[in-house]
Amino acid sequence: MGHFPGASGLAVKEHDFKKCHQSGFCKRNREYADNAAAQKSTWSSPYNVIHDSISFNDGQLQAVILKTINSEGATERFPLTVTFHKSGTARVTVDEEKRQKKEITLRHDSQARKERYNEAEKWVVVGGVDKDENAKISHQDKDQVNINYGPDSKFEAVIRLSPFEVDFRRDGDSHVKFNDNGLFNMEHWRPHVENPAPKEGEEANQVEVAQKEDESTWWDESFGGNTDSKPRGPESVALDISFPGYEHVYGIPEHTGPMSLKQTRGGDGNFEEPYRLYNSDVFEYILDSPMTLYGSIPFMQAHRKGSSVGVFWLNAAETWVDIVKAKDSINPLSLSTPKTTTKTHWISESGILDVFVLLGPTPRDLTSTYGELTGYSAMPQELAIGYHQCRWNYISDDDVKDVDRKMDRFKIPYDVIWLDLEYTDDRKYFTWEPHSFADPIGMGKQLQEHGRGLVLLIDPHIKKVDGYSQSSELVSKDLAVHNKDNNIYDGWCWPGNSNWIDCFNPKAIEWWKGLFKYDAFKGTLENTFIWNDMSEPSVFNGPETTMPKDNIHYENWEHRDVHNLNGLTFQNATFQGMVTRKKGELRRPFILTRSFYAGSQRLGAMWTGDNQAAWDHLEASIPMVLNQGISGFPFAGADVGGFFGNPEKDLLVRWYQTGAFYPFFRAHAHIDSRRREPYLLGEEHTAIATAAIRLRYTLLPAWYTAFYEANKDGSPIVRPMYWTHPSEEAGFAIDDQLFVGSTGLLAKPITKQDQFSTDIWIPDDEVYYDYFTYETKKTQKGKHLTVSASLSQIPLLMRGGHIFPRRDIPRRSAATMKFDDYTLVVSTSKAGTAEGELYVDDGDSFDFEHGQYIHRRFSLDQSALRSTEAEGRDAASLKQGKWLQVMKEVYVDKIIVVGAPAAWSREEVQITSEGRSWPVKVQYHPAANGKAAFAVVGRVGARIGEDWSIELA
Ligand code: NOJ
Repeated sequence: MGHFPGASGLAVKEHDFKKCHQSGFCKRNREYADNAAAQKSTWSSPYNVIHDSISFNDGQLQAVILKTINSEGATERFPLTVTFHKSGTARVTVDEEKRQKKEITLRHDSQARKERYNEAEKWVVVGGVDKDENAKISHQDKDQVNINYGPDSKFEAVIRLSPFEVDFRRDGDSHVKFNDNGLFNMEHWRPHVENPAPKEGEEANQVEVAQKEDESTWWDESFGGNTDSKPRGPESVALDISFPGYEHVYGIPEHTGPMSLKQTRGGDGNFEEPYRLYNSDVFEYILDSPMTLYGSIPFMQAHRKGSSVGVFWLNAAETWVDIVKAKDSINPLSLSTPKTTTKTHWISESGILDVFVLLGPTPRDLTSTYGELTGYSAMPQELAIGYHQCRWNYISDDDVKDVDRKMDRFKIPYDVIWLDLEYTDDRKYFTWEPHSFADPIGMGKQLQEHGRGLVLLIDPHIKKVDGYSQSSELVSKDLAVHNKDNNIYDGWCWPGNSNWIDCFNPKAIEWWKGLFKYDAFKGTLENTFIWNDMSEPSVFNGPETTMPKDNIHYENWEHRDVHNLNGLTFQNATFQGMVTRKKGELRRPFILTRSFYAGSQRLGAMWTGDNQAAWDHLEASIPMVLNQGISGFPFAGADVGGFFGNPEKDLLVRWYQTGAFYPFFRAHAHIDSRRREPYLLGEEHTAIATAAIRLRYTLLPAWYTAFYEANKDGSPIVRPMYWTHPSEEAGFAIDDQLFVGSTGLLAKPITKQDQFSTDIWIPDDEVYYDYFTYETKKTQKGKHLTVSASLSQIPLLMRGGHIFPRRDIPRRSAATMKFDDYTLVVSTSKAGTAEGELYVDDGDSFDFEHGQYIHRRFSLDQSALRSTEAEGRDAASLKQGKWLQVMKEVYVDKIIVVGAPAAWSREEVQITSEGRSWPVKVQYHPAANGKAAFAVVGRVGARIGEDWSIELA
C-alpha cells in the first residue's frame, strides 16, 4: 500500500486499523482462496444442493445446500432461496439451519441473538422486490436448474447443484458467476472445545495436531489491546463472484483511489490488501488505498463495451473484497486480444448471504434498478445545493453574524453557515454554550432575513453527566447501546465519557424525534438543519476507534452484525425528528452524514470526512465524488480547502473551482487551522473564489434539475465518462472530468499546483464550445483537447446538443434568487439541434409529490425552439398552489443560442405563447476568431411554466 502523506506531512496511523491478516475471518477466507488456487482442478467446493429439496413457486426457488464439513462426510444444512423480481433483479440468500433454529449455544453467557443477522433489508430495501411470476424453469435435470426471468425472459439463472454454483446469463452469455472458483464459504456453528494442554512430559499427538483446523482465530480475538469475545465463534460468509469478459469494476465506496477499482492481490501497481468496508473514523486518511473509510455501499458494477452488470451484497458486517483481473487464455495464433475476467471475492464476518444480481445492460439501467431497490436520493432543500460556509468553529453568535455580513459585503453568495461542536454547552448536544451563543434566535433570524440557513452538529454520543436530561433519559429509558454484559455501554468521545443512542430501537427513534421539536431544542428555527458526525460510530477508546463488536443493540443483535448500518440508522432518526419538529410543518430535512450505507441517499448528503489541505487530496476528491454518484448516493462532496492544515491560496481557489462541481459544496476547516473565509484571501484570490461560487449560483437551476433526475431514476448528479458514453473504452478509467447532469457541461477542474492548462478527453463526435467564450473547440472523438487554465479559469465545455437553464444574477443566496427570471443556454449540435430540461419546485416542502412543480422540456430543431410540458401534463387541470401562483410571474428573460444556425441571423423573432404572439429582439454575432456564431434573444417575456415556441422557418 502506497503512502501519500499530504503536503502537511500527515498520514494515517495504519497500524490502528486491521489488515486482512489481522482480521481472523478475512485471513481464513483468503487462505481458503489460496488453498483452492493451489489445488487447481482438484479443488472442489464442499457445498452441494440436495436435488430433492428443490421447489419453485411464484418466482422463487427454494432448496437446501449441504456442506460437507469433515472427511467422514458429516454435513450441515444451509437453506437457499433464489428469488426473481419484476424489477429484473435476482436475489440469492443462504442461511444456516442450525443457527436459524437457534440450536446453538453461546459462549461467555452472552445475551446475543443466536441467528445470523437477516434484518439489513429492513433498513435498506424499499422496493423492486415484487416477485416475477413469469419467471419459469426452462430446464431441470440432476445437475442443474435453468430459470428464465427478467424483461422478455432474456435473463437466465443456471443453478448448478454439485457443487452449488449460479451462472447469470443475458441473451445466452454469462455475465455474473457465483462460486465459479469454489470460494463460497459459510462457517458453520461449532461448539468451542477446550483442547487440554498436553500434560507435562507428554508430547502432543503430532498427527492430530496436523489434521486439526487452525482454530487460532475462531474464538476470542484481540487487536490493539482490545479483545472481542465472539460468543458465536466463527460465522463468516464468503463468495467468489466473477464477471467474465469484464475488465472494469466500479463502486463499493468509500475508499480513496481510482474510480476503476484496482486489483488487490499484489503485483505491479496493485494493492496488497482487499478493499475493506468497515465504517471507521480514520484519522488523517491516506490516498490511493483500499483502507476502509467512514461509509460503505457494497454495490459493485462491472463494465465493458456494450454491457454493465452489478451485484449488491446486502450485509452490514465488516466486509472485505478482493479483486483479481485474469486474462483469459486464448489460442496464441488467434489475432483477437485476450479478454479479461474480473474475479472478486467477498468476505463478511457474519450474517446471512444475501446478494442481488443486476444484469443491466447499461450503466443507466443499473443505477435505476439499484435506486428502485434502495431508494433514490432525496429531493434536497434548495439551500442545500448552494455554497456552505463551515469551520470548526465559528466561535460565537456574533462571529456568525459577522461572517454573514462580510459575505454580503464582498458579494459572495452562500446559503448555509455551520456550527461545529463548540456551539454546545460542554459538548452536550441540544444545548448552547451560554456565553458565546447567548442569542441563537437573534443569530438565526439574521440568517433567515438573508434567506439563509444554519446547520448544527449533533453526534450520537451523549455525555454522561449529571443534570443533563438527554443523558438521564437515555439511561432511564434504556435507549442506549449495551455492552457484552448487557449493561449500558460507556465509551470515550468528544464530551468525555459517553453513551451511544441505539437508533435500531424504535423507542429510541421516538425519543430522539422529540428532542428536535422547536420548544425542546430552544434556539432553533425553521432554518436550522442538522449535521450528523462521528456516527460510524467513532469511539476514541474503542477497538479501531469504534464500538466493540460484542456490544449489543436492540433485540439483542450484536454490533458486529449491524456495524455498517449504524450511521444510516442515526441519520434516519434525525430525519424523523426533522419532519416532526412541529405539527403541520412538513418540510424537507437537510442532514449531512459522515457515516453511511446503501439507502442513506434517501436521508441527505454525505461528505468525504477529514481530508487534508493538500493538492493530492484535492485531486483524490473527484474520483471519490464520482464513485458516490454511480453507487446511488450522489449528494456528495469533500471539504473545500481541506480539513487539516492551511491551504496556500492557489490551492484554496482551485478547490473552490472544483467544489463548485461537487453536488455538495462546503468549505470546512479544522479548529487549529487559520481562518480562510473566501473574503480573507486578498483581492485576486477572493475574486477567483467568488467567481467560482457565482458560477455555481448562476447554474443552480441546472443543478436542481440534475438533483431531480437523481431523485427520479438514480442518475448520478455528476457523471463519469463511462456512464455517459458506455461504448467508449478509452473513457472507462477516466475519473478526473465530469458531466453535470444532462446539461452537456463537461468540467475538468484543475487539481495540480502550478498547472495552467489541461487535457480534456473528448468522448464523441459532437461539437464542443468553451463555456465562457463560446469558442468552438477543435475536437476529435477519443482524443484529448488541450485547454488553457490560468488560475482564474475553470476548464468547462458545453457539448453541442443541450439546453440548460441558468439565472444570470447571482444574489446572496438561493432563496433570494428563487423567483428570478431564467436564461436558457442553447448549445447547438452539429446537426443544428438541441434539447434539455428544467425541473423546479418550491425547494422546501413535499408539495412536489402532489404535482406542485414545473417541468419543462426545451427543444431546438431547424425550424423552431420550443418549450413544452416535459411529462405531457395538462397545466390547466393542475391545482395552482401558492408557489405555482408566484411562479406564474417568472419568465424566460433571455435565450443564448451558441453555435446559432443562420436562421437566427435576423433582428427579431416571433414568439408564441398563451395564444399570443410578439416580436423579440435578436442580437446575432457571426462566427469570428474561433468563436461560434451566437444569438442573444431577449427579453423573451414568456412565462417559464407555459408552452412557447419561436418558429424560425
Ligand atoms: C470530525 C469531522 O469529520 C469534522 O468535520 C468535524 O469538524 C469534527 N469531527 C469536530 O466535530
